[in-house]
Amino acid sequence: MPARTVYLETFGCQMNELDSELVAGQLRSLGYAFAPDPEAADVVLYNTCSVREHAEQKVWSRLGELAARKRREPGLVVGVLGCLAERDGTDLARRMPVVDILCGPGELDKLPALLDNAVRTREALAADETPGPRLVSAQQFALQGNASRRSATLAAAEDNLEMLDLSRAISPIDRNGSAYVRITRGCNKFCTYCVVPFTRGAEVHRPPRHIIDECKRLADAGVIEVTLLGQTVNHYRFEHGSAVTVGGVVQPQKGRSYAGGHARDPFAGAHTTTFADLLARIHDEVPAIERLRFVTSYPRDFGDDVLEAIRDHPRICRYLHVPAQSGSDRILKAMNRGYSASEYLEFLDRARAHLDTPDRPLMVSGDFIVGFPTETDDDFAATTRLVERARYKSAFIFKYSPRPGTVAFDKLPDDVPEDTKRRRNNDLLALQSRISDEIARAQVGRTARVMVEGVSRREMKRSGLTKSEIRRRESVTLTVGGREPIADPPRAEEAPPAISVQLTARTDGDLIVLFDAPPGRAPADLIGRIVPVRIDSADRLSLHATML
Ligand code: 5AD
Ligand code: SF4
Repeated sequence: MPARTVYLETFGCQMNELDSELVAGQLRSLGYAFAPDPEAADVVLYNTCSVREHAEQKVWSRLGELAARKRREPGLVVGVLGCLAERDGTDLARRMPVVDILCGPGELDKLPALLDNAVRTREALAADETPGPRLVSAQQFALQGNASRRSATLAAAEDNLEMLDLSRAISPIDRNGSAYVRITRGCNKFCTYCVVPFTRGAEVHRPPRHIIDECKRLADAGVIEVTLLGQTVNHYRFEHGSAVTVGGVVQPQKGRSYAGGHARDPFAGAHTTTFADLLARIHDEVPAIERLRFVTSYPRDFGDDVLEAIRDHPRICRYLHVPAQSGSDRILKAMNRGYSASEYLEFLDRARAHLDTPDRPLMVSGDFIVGFPTETDDDFAATTRLVERARYKSAFIFKYSPRPGTVAFDKLPDDVPEDTKRRRNNDLLALQSRISDEIARAQVGRTARVMVEGVSRREMKRSGLTKSEIRRRESVTLTVGGREPIADPPRAEEAPPAISVQLTARTDGDLIVLFDAPPGRAPADLIGRIVPVRIDSADRLSLHATML
């Protein structure tokens, strides 16, 4: 097969960023090269998100743009990976004949075979000059349908996706000291608005040995910050007594019930690794990891044992991302979240009682959906009260987006008018901005150790990058911690012609800090390191500091 050049663009969440990294590593090992722009590539892959309609529309418009190019270049291969492929499946392929490959997030291990097939078929097609009818479609699909939920109930089902994680290509050059490590896949919560349980399948937990070994390999490659990933990380639990091995590989285990509330898991014994155990083991067994973080936590089922593990292990960050989604009990019930607003706030109080100290304040962030079906002004007022009480350092606020296939889509009318959704979104953003600002100002005068992620947006602008290049780099920078987009060879940051280069970094509590590299220090030497700074001033979005 002639060498092919791939452009891979990622939309959506951190889980997708990690999936893209694994896919890229796998394709690279098979001889594919990577390009930073779609124009320079003959394979274009989009790893998509389906959580809100807006995220899907971006992909649709990218695919529309590719259609004209494909008429000129019949050898071009186009693939849609991830949650949109899984959710919209063959409908998407029918409506968008430009698409050659559909590969759901649970089938990414099959991508090389699909791609190889698609490349060969398109090559044959491009070379076919005989008159008469031609093969016009070469579409290849790997989707789970409902099989993911079925197979997860069979404890012995082989989890091929685990092989993808296990074969992760780790090289020291393609990251800036920071990496994601998956601990669970899928989700069992079935919040009524959410597609994730359908697109990513049932919750499974990776064997602790696999997770710890991956952390060690990353640390050996120079990683000092690991973010553990899962839709509901605090549900993590692995029962060694029931572990199943297939072909010598211990298989991930399906999610089970949790002790919940404050309680320690009464059934957890020497043969169970709970989330608290996992945190402690990674902390103790991989001391080269200077920062251990995890997202996303579910507000229920968060035992004191986890809070104690964070408190007692100094390299675990004092940062929790715990979406509340709403402050109205009626709406929380309609969302099937399984907790009330007061239970959520009690959890935050408990977390702060364990973890909030003057020298290491606990920082919390949250997610909210405004305009969920039937949400009234009173419901929304309850959400603003919760936001006032919760004192988030930041919050992600989304307008409700009806998703086909979910319970809310089927059973509830999308009855909050768009302008009401927009107004509530703006009102909540304004409230959160004020709180973020207050929290940031309280940091002024403190010293902090910050992880340097890359050059700041201001610096990227100064170095003449186009807006879209900045956006692309930023989407990676903000979520992955300064890694370059997937491209070969990794491009070095061009030092701008200024004397001081502004860098972006994060505190232990996930606050963004901007500071100038001190004269005489090459910015590239600071990226991927933890350095001490003094916080001089604050605004809503970031802290400004001086390196000490
Ligand atoms: N509409 C709007 N926001 C949603 N989210 C998930 N599904 C939807 C939806 N249908 C938000 C939730 C979740 C975050 C990842 O995306 O707030 O925490
Ligand atoms: Fe979606 Fe709820 Fe699972 Fe989060 S916990 S992924 S919002 S179903």
